[in-house]
Amino acid sequence: MTHSTSSLDLTGRVALVFGASRGIGRATARLLARRGALVHVLARRRAPLEQLARELADEGGLVRAHAVDLDELDDVRRVLESLLRETPAHIVVHNTGGPKGGALVHAELAELQAALARHLFSAHTILRAVLPSMRDAGYGRWINVLSTSVREPIPNLGVSNIARAAMASWTKTLAGELPPGVTINSVLPGFTDTDRLRELAAARAAQSGATVEDVRAQWVAQVPEGRLARPEETAEAIAFLAAPAAAYIRGHSLPVDGGRLRSIS
Ligand SMILES: NC(=O)c1ccc[n+]([C@@H]2O[C@H](COP(=O)([O-])OP(=O)(O)OC[C@H]3O[C@@H](n4cnc5c(N)ncnc54)[C@H](OP(=O)(O)O)[C@@H]3O)[C@@H](O)[C@H]2O)c1
Repeated sequence: MTHSTSSLDLTGRVALVFGASRGIGRATARLLARRGALVHVLARRRAPLEQLARELADEGGLVRAHAVDLDELDDVRRVLESLLRETPAHIVVHNTGGPKGGALVHAELAELQAALARHLFSAHTILRAVLPSMRDAGYGRWINVLSTSVREPIPNLGVSNIARAAMASWTKTLAGELPPGVTINSVLPGFTDTDRLRELAAARAAQSGATVEDVRAQWVAQVPEGRLARPEETAEAIAFLAAPAAAYIRGHSLPVDGGRLRSIS
């Protein structure tokens, strides 16, 4: 397999993008395919993945769709076993649905367990499966899609804050353990205009009696860039971290938040 020496080109690399049926994951899969990677797209719903694969194939992209439920670790193992029989894996974008909102003080233990399973346990299961092929290739790029709550916990997203914090520590620990050539980093999306954000805005509006437009305006008011992010902008950061260009960036958390976080690091 020939690999490009261009620093952003992904020709000859194989990527697994989880949560690729919509939002940030879908935009990322699209960009990695356009940069030349063979992209395996994964999520629970097969139909939108197949639709994406068809769209990208029309552009000459190489995309394979796989249904997987990250809540079911046996399912994750089974899907990866069959996928890795076909191709190696050089790039993993670990991305999945965020837990439902609410104050931590009201969360049941089962909600915390479910969030840790979907986020942390699935990531660890996938990493153990793909690491041999990254090591063999001397090229590995793992990118998590987390949240700015890693830096500043977000009120009313209690369970999510805990799952993201666990992922952040998992990531930083692995950054010290993975072999040379295999990096791990995270992106921290700010308010990003996806279906999830639209659902959150509708829920907040219903709760508070405000309109959806008011809720969105309150969010935008917190962002120096003065608007929500487009998922394609988050994808650009992920694709950079996936590329040869980012070889010396390791254990980093990169906010893509229009300047909303005020802390220096
Ligand atoms: N949008 C924002 O403003 C924002 C801000 C901060 C953090 N984030 C976080 O960034 C991530 C991506 O955000 P997004 O807005 O793109 O989210 P999204 O629109 O909700 O998309 C989530 C993706 O994950 C998949 N997914 C959900 N549960 C899954 C499961 N059990 N197994 C496998 N796949 C699963 C979904 O597909 P299926 O339903 O087909 O499985 C979907 O493709 C989320 O974790 C979100 O919480 C988003």
